[in-house]
Amino acid sequence: MRLILKLTVVAMALLTIASAIVHPYGAVKGTRSLAPLLTGAEANSDVARIFERSCENCHSDRTEWPWYSYVAPLSWMIENDVHRGRSHMNLSHWDAYTEEQKVELLTKIGVEVRNRRMPLPKYLQLHPQARLSNDDLARINVWVQSERRRLRASIQERPKTPAD
Ligand code: HEC
Repeated sequence: MRLILKLTVVAMALLTIASAIVHPYGAVKGTRSLAPLLTGAEANSDVARIFERSCENCHSDRTEWPWYSYVAPLSWMIENDVHRGRSHMNLSHWDAYTEEQKVELLTKIGVEVRNRRMPLPKYLQLHPQARLSNDDLARINVWVQSERRRLRASIQERPKTPAD
């Protein structure tokens, strides 16, 4: 019995150390910014709030890290999701995408939310408030279409360079 207790204590100590020093996906938690999402886009506050509520934890630098996100091995899974989420689309750096990239991301946003692939279903189990209502879905769809139209018009109006 005492051996089991000792082993448990040793295992917990090792996990604590691992949680602190092992970060297979880089310094994901170190990237932090409270800058607003979607800078440069024309989005009303309703739409912006949906992205803040349902997407920003994985798709921006405004991630909030609950206590369990510091405990290995869960911490590694969460850091992996945030790392992958940000690399596909980081709403904190919207203005760094080209207009063509934005158009493509908007199309993907539409597809992902319509098919209920985003927010990730496993995330919704722990964050039920992030679930998209039918109203949220409709708002995102309308916004995706109008923003895409605006960007396409702006791409068309761009003066042609010799490289085009
Ligand atoms: C729990 C983290 C998490 C949340 C919350 C989340 N995503 Fe994602 N998202 C990911 C991950 C991880 C990927 C990469 C998926 C992959 O590699 O297949 C991704 C990929 C995407 C992509 C790119 C898909 C592609 O084909 O390239 C889009 C667009 C997207 N998410 C939109 C959203 C939107 C919109 C929301 C909010 C309504 C949202 N996500 C919420 C983790 C998340």
